[in-house]
Amino acid sequence: MKLPSVTFLFVIGVLCATEGYAHDSPYTQEDKVDLSSADVLEDELNNGSLWARGLKKKEWSYKGKKGDDMTSSKGECGIDYCEAKQISLGGMKSCLKEHFDHLSNLYFPDDGDDYNLARYTAFSVSRYPAAIVYVEDVEEVQHALKCAVDNGYKVSARGGNHSYQGLATMDGYVVIDIGRTCKPDEFVVDKTDQGPHILEGSKYIGTIKAQAGCTNAIMLAAGHEHFGEDGGMTLAGGCPSVGITGYVLGGGAGNISPYVGYGVDIVKEFQLVLHDGTVVKASENENSDLYWASRGGGGGNGIVTHLTYKIVQAPKQKYEEDLGRKFTLLNLRMVIKDVDKAAKRIMEWFYDADPLITGKFGGGFFWGKGPGSYGESIFVIFVFAYLGSWREAVEDLKVTGLLDDDIFTIVSYPEQSHGNVILSEDYEVLCTSDQTCPQFENGKLSSAYEFNSYAEVEL
Ligand SMILES: Cc1cc2nc3c(=O)[nH]c(=O)nc-3n(C[C@H](O)[C@H](O)[C@H](O)COP(=O)(O)OP(=O)(O)OC[C@H]3O[C@@H](n4cnc5c(N)ncnc54)[C@H](O)[C@@H]3O)c2cc1C
Ligand SMILES: *[C@@H]1O[C@H](CO)[C@@H](O)[C@H](O)[C@H]1NC(C)=O
Ligand SMILES: *[C@@H]1O[C@H](CO)[C@@H](O)[C@H](O)[C@H]1NC(C)=O
Repeated sequence: MKLPSVTFLFVIGVLCATEGYAHDSPYTQEDKVDLSSADVLEDELNNGSLWARGLKKKEWSYKGKKGDDMTSSKGECGIDYCEAKQISLGGMKSCLKEHFDHLSNLYFPDDGDDYNLARYTAFSVSRYPAAIVYVEDVEEVQHALKCAVDNGYKVSARGGNHSYQGLATMDGYVVIDIGRTCKPDEFVVDKTDQGPHILEGSKYIGTIKAQAGCTNAIMLAAGHEHFGEDGGMTLAGGCPSVGITGYVLGGGAGNISPYVGYGVDIVKEFQLVLHDGTVVKASENENSDLYWASRGGGGGNGIVTHLTYKIVQAPKQKYEEDLGRKFTLLNLRMVIKDVDKAAKRIMEWFYDADPLITGKFGGGFFWGKGPGSYGESIFVIFVFAYLGSWREAVEDLKVTGLLDDDIFTIVSYPEQSHGNVILSEDYEVLCTSDQTCPQFENGKLSSAYEFNSYAEVEL
């Protein structure tokens, strides 16, 4: 079967934008919104961000008093960081200035637009931290932490900025941004560390120790570079620009989770800096309580500086003639003939079928009812990433009952022409929609791509 070749594009963030999360920056010169009055600021914090409510393209100019004392009168200010500042912004500020370059990796509320850019969160409400510092290594984390802690400031670590709650950029906190720690050339790749993984017969074939400031896209690329030939996979979610640390601290789910587990299932070790500046490791054997808390607990126990990831190998190819390990993306749309039977079949598929088979399928599932492209009918859509070839996917779908003609009829996806394949009665690919397809009238239409690397499937 011949499928369109796909170029491996290393693009951070683009997928998220196509998901409908626009990346427009609110910082343009038109329509200045004057946020200088305390009331407006407080409103803005309470109401959620102007940006989130669709009022884009405004400039946010925070105008506090010049210098160090934006807070002098509580009545005038009244937001959290003013309280913090009354403790001692001066001490924190001079301490940070000793170790970091002001305006190149260090920002304060009186830095105007530079501060606004540094505190910007694309997916959450607007917040006003007391300082934002960009660190590059463990030592800098320790410095920044000490300046904050010694002066009574709370700290939030920031990775990929994707927290919907804005938890990485908190009002009045010192934000320690770890994005610049990411250095893929310095990843530690260990191909001798191997062992069994969760599902019977599955295994991990090595580990990568990465800096905490990297994104899932970087890990996907690194996994491909070092382990691609052996079918090694790194777990990414639907949005490659999510930071690896926030992702893991919150659990971390992606298309291959049914086979590989969650993000927390593949992290072997964390390295953290604790509030008192000590550097510790957390794994099953060392500080196991901290390891446990970091795997889904949401953080707050220290600043993570490194994560050591297991690279899980994709399942073996069923057919010897298919060299290597293939991956397939498929989009199955089926009209349901018998709702009761279909609901039962799908539930069995999710809960009772052999996980060694259904574990190879991951992605999204949607159950809907017309009116629409399929008239008034009830239909299901499966968008699967499958760990194997198309041929194997069809067999597995048949064995587990999802291609049962008594219950489901495959229908075409009318809005999408690119990447569609025309199938024979046996689900063999007859041709792709890019070519002339004589069988079009009688064939089944679906959409599928076959890849040789898991990184290509995800990006
Ligand atoms: C568009 C979009 C799509 C998403 N898709 C998925 C998905 O498919 N699967 C999924 O599981 N999740 C998904 N998420 C959720 C995402 O995993 C979480 O929001 C995650 O917390 C983001 O991590 P981050 O590092 O990018 O964010 P940040 O906002 O930088 O950080 C998130 C949290 O982690 C903490 N943190 C970050 N770095 C460190 C560190 N070094 N040390 C200590 N604490 C730290 C922060 O303080 C904060 O509490 C998605 C989010 C978005 C916005
Ligand atoms: C916040 O909401 C209130 C009530 O809806 C509104 O009057 C006010 O203008 C809003 N403030 C901002 C800054 O949008
Ligand atoms: C997070 O957002 C800040 C503010 O916009 C930005 O300076 C920083 O580079 C971002 N970090 C990452 C990893 O994208």
